[in-house]
Amino acid sequence: MDKVAVFPGSFDPFTVGHESIVKRALALFDRVIIAVGENAEKKNLFSITMRMKMISKVFEGEGRVEVTRYSGLTVEFCRKHGARYILRGLRTAADFEYERAMGHMNWKMAPEIDTVFLLTSTEHTPVNSTIVRDIIKNGGDASMFVPSSIIISDYLGK
Ligand code: PNS
Repeated sequence: MDKVAVFPGSFDPFTVGHESIVKRALALFDRVIIAVGENAEKKNLFSITMRMKMISKVFEGEGRVEVTRYSGLTVEFCRKHGARYILRGLRTAADFEYERAMGHMNWKMAPEIDTVFLLTSTEHTPVNSTIVRDIIKNGGDASMFVPSSIIISDYLGK
């Protein structure tokens, strides 16, 4: 049976840190589903369609990566797709507390699904979508923080 991991997140925008996590996860799992969460409460910079487009561009030609959107519980999405693993990246101790709570709650709701954490590579530790968003909103050059195949202006305001 294929080992499938779901990599859930807002990805607003998808960063070099996310890209690196997915690439490394491909050595551990047969398939990785990047699941872009639709959270109506969050004020996003990039529309969900544009976020899916930018991520699909990064993994163009990589047949083991699927990009999709979802709403509702992550564990229900995993069950529907036969995924036994939730993949998350860990940068800092602050990340850990939030991830630990989510991991434990998800595990309580779905004990058959494990959360697997990969430490971000050292050079990506400071990169986070909130700050990247802020740089973009303020007219800065955020190209070094997103995968090289993403031209940020192609996805803004659409
Ligand atoms: O990139 P983010 O914002 O850290 O991703 C958060 C995400 C989408 C993984 C989280 O909000 C989530 O899982 N949302 C789906 C609803 C859900 O399952 N909530 C319970 C998690 S314990």
